Amino acid sequence: MKSIGVLQEPNKDLRVSLLPQAVDELVRLKNQVWVEQGLGHGIGLTDQDYAQKGAKVVTRSQALKQADIITTINLPNGLIPDLLDKSILGVYNPLYFKDDLLKFSNNTRIYSLDLLPRTTLAQNMDVLSSMASLSGYKAVLFAANYVSKPLPMFTTAAGTLRPAKVLVLGAGVAGLQAIATAKRLGAEVEAFDVRSSAEEEVKSLGANFIKVEGSEESKNSGGYAVEQSINFQRTQRLLIHEHCRSADIVISTANIPGKKAPVLISESTVKKMQAGSVIVDLASEQGGNCELSQNNKIQTHYGVTVIGNSHFSRAIPKAASQLLSTNFINFLKLWLNDPGNQLIKSTLAKNNQEKIPVSPLN
Ligand code: NAI
Repeated sequence: MKSIGVLQEPNKDLRVSLLPQAVDELVRLKNQVWVEQGLGHGIGLTDQDYAQKGAKVVTRSQALKQADIITTINLPNGLIPDLLDKSILGVYNPLYFKDDLLKFSNNTRIYSLDLLPRTTLAQNMDVLSSMASLSGYKAVLFAANYVSKPLPMFTTAAGTLRPAKVLVLGAGVAGLQAIATAKRLGAEVEAFDVRSSAEEEVKSLGANFIKVEGSEESKNSGGYAVEQSINFQRTQRLLIHEHCRSADIVISTANIPGKKAPVLISESTVKKMQAGSVIVDLASEQGGNCELSQNNKIQTHYGVTVIGNSHFSRAIPKAASQLLSTNFINFLKLWLNDPGNQLIKSTLAKNNQEKIPVSPLN
């Protein structure tokens, strides 16, 4: 039997790591669950909803004291002594925020679900895909609110409005969802990526793929993009510059795990964009794809609205909690049923070779 504590997230984040249904599953598997009072209030849940599923609803400090495993999507602040000899489970981007994780003692075991390999076994725990899909969708809706024209074509007695042009930079999970959403809203969509496999996916959604010859790919990157040569970056920026000039909305999602995001949109490009257009930079937490974007800020530069936000899934917290809770419970069930933690140890061993600060299970 394990004792699991579920914490509330910081103020701006209404998502929860475990919904009452997931708590029910853990309790049926003979675990104890300690839920922080008020968990889920922001998405319409009550303490009673959790209590009915067998959770003990307690204060934050009691949950921390009683539980061996703490689930919290965001890395806890100011709780470090309380977490000695505990395990914490969340989504911490340790490849990029290494220093934040190194503040924890070696006696705190940290499990970050974003480090799981994208294998068939781990598909139902893939928090990156869950959150990126919602973010890509929401990014288009946000942009639609700020852009100075409608996304679909409008034919009226007073004339015709052409559909908006949407440019998507980075056609991974978020980018593909952004393409699909913009297409559904009637926009004309085009997209870039450095991975050649993205071309077919982009085209299958009815968007135009903009090709830049000479991109580098690596078989060892686990399907992720790698940093590009200086020459490639120059050519790519020039082409992006041209396409940005005619775009009404640019959604940028280009990331390289653990590295600063590539700068794809320079200030001079923003200067040349149409007034009233919008850039949504989903890579802003890792430095941003646009030279002018700032994380968690909405600004206007040269008449262009620049939105820096890497966590649009927070803007749709109920759906995000539903997906996250499924990802978390699938990991927990595997972990709690993994004799000797062999599966998890092998994943962590791989990560430790890459010097990721994640400690192995005892
Ligand atoms: P990500 O969030 O790390 O990056 C987003 C996109 O930006 C990627 O498509 C990447 O190629 C692109 N990018 C990076 N640098 C760029 C540049 N300089 N210019 C233009 N584009 C650039 O990626 P995400 O969405 O997490 O997906 C990464 C990979 O994982 C993809 O190959 C995806 O197909 C794969 N995947 C596999 C899953 C599985 O179950 N097997 C599930 C989800 C994703």
